[in-house]
Amino acid sequence: MPDALPKPPTGDLPSPQDYPNPAATATPSLRERIIAAIARRGSIPFPEYLEIALYDPELGYYARAGTQVGRDGDFYTSVSVGPLFGKLLARRFLGWWETNGRPGPWRILEIGGHDGTLAADILSEIRLISPPAWQALEYAIAEPLPRLRGLQKTCLEHLASRLRIAEGFGGIASHPLPGVAFGNEILDALPFHLIEMKGGAWQELHVTAGENGTLALTPRETSIELGTAFPEGYRTEVRTGFPDCLADVTACLTNGLLLFADYGFASPEYYDIYRSSGTLRTFSSHKAGEDPFAAPGETDITAHVDFTDLAKAAGAVGYSPTVFNSQGSHLTHLAKPMILAGGMDDPKTIAQFRTLTHPAHLGAKFHIIELESSAETPPDVAHRLAL
Ligand SMILES: C[S@@+](CC[C@H](N)C(=O)[O-])C[C@H]1O[C@@H](n2cnc3c(N)ncnc32)[C@H](O)[C@@H]1O
Repeated sequence: MPDALPKPPTGDLPSPQDYPNPAATATPSLRERIIAAIARRGSIPFPEYLEIALYDPELGYYARAGTQVGRDGDFYTSVSVGPLFGKLLARRFLGWWETNGRPGPWRILEIGGHDGTLAADILSEIRLISPPAWQALEYAIAEPLPRLRGLQKTCLEHLASRLRIAEGFGGIASHPLPGVAFGNEILDALPFHLIEMKGGAWQELHVTAGENGTLALTPRETSIELGTAFPEGYRTEVRTGFPDCLADVTACLTNGLLLFADYGFASPEYYDIYRSSGTLRTFSSHKAGEDPFAAPGETDITAHVDFTDLAKAAGAVGYSPTVFNSQGSHLTHLAKPMILAGGMDDPKTIAQFRTLTHPAHLGAKFHIIELESSAETPPDVAHRLAL
């Protein structure tokens, strides 16, 4: 039973305060939710702002209905180019399965599966080219957002016999298996701190609220430290979540391969003194912007990945980098057997290959890093990652 309306006081006419105010009980907008979080604490660190702006379960950028990826969305990914990206990853994962004694059962864990398209491309290819690997496979997706889990279930209905979709890693980690864990454009979507060099010391930029719902950055003390060889006003980003994220992911595998495709650099290039305003970008309708407060919930907010930092965090959970290359080079390497077998001759596949690998398209902007358990890092990979 809903609460009864308060009775108007007898005698005088009721004042507006005697009735519930519809505006006060309506769902707050995302900006109001952010301002409420700030009001409780005075200011919030930038990662907390990103958690709300991107992942609020109702109104966050990734939670809201609509198309974020592809021609009608805000940005393209390698998945929106077509199925070739998933087919090449499937072949890489099958290669791991073959060279590791064809374990059965084995697992592929996708971190952040968006609408399920990449999972569908990978699973279809595995079912087509290796029935024994398909029979032994569990494909798990860890996806925090309910709306996206719903899209994944619909998209993958015809492949459901090998599929498990989970909100987090805990249930999957309760039964670890050998296999592969991977994420495409997932690391750049993880929240990051903003720091700035001020008066010879690093300060962290928090988010505060001004009048009329405006949001702004304000400096606070920080324990994040990148050294002092940076000019005054140098601003950049740091992700401190890699160790926890990799601990969760690797707990789902007894041993295996991690693969991440994303845009980013090794540390020396990321923190080059000439990159003085960092890499934070917003994306909306294929236009890049730099103001993270322009339209929270309606634009993607992202920053490049520091692959050196990721590799160091992986070392702590027993994984070593074995590949670090441009996406163009690595996908060309993976495509070689398919090209030689005449499997890439049709014009659509050739066009996809060109977009994924050409330096002017996605080939140079994106990098692929592979990390393996109980492996040695080759000297050229250590050199490229500045380890
Ligand atoms: C840019 S989309 C990734 C695109 C998708 N992998 C593709 O290739 O099309 C980011 C995805 O990561 C998910 N995500 C964000 N934080 C996550 C976390 N901590 N664990 C798992 N998934 C996460 C989001 O919900 C979303 O599905």
